Amino acid sequence: MPSITFVKRDNTEVTLQADEGLTVMEIGRDNGIGIEGTCGGSLSCATCHVVVDEAWVEATGKPSLDEEDMLDLAFGLEATSRLGCQITMTPALDGLKVRLPEDD
Ligand code: FES
Repeated sequence: MPSITFVKRDNTEVTLQADEGLTVMEIGRDNGIGIEGTCGGSLSCATCHVVVDEAWVEATGKPSLDEEDMLDLAFGLEATSRLGCQITMTPALDGLKVRLPEDD
């Protein structure tokens, strides 16, 4: 089971074991990390915005054009911002670290 570390808005870190196939949004939402995921992962809300740790940018890949369009609506956008519903946990992402963006 891959692990994922969330850096919360208060800068505390939470590391969780996650089932393969779950998205970063689902893991964060279901564990009370502070990710809403209002649209359920259909790329229409941007409330699953996370900032990927530099070390994991390559492994998580680039956002699609649709994802980029939705990211443009997110608050606190950073160079490594992604939508958590578009990152699916795989063994290759074991140890992934993401941070919740600043509130607006
Ligand atoms: S959950 Fe809505 S865009 Fe990711």
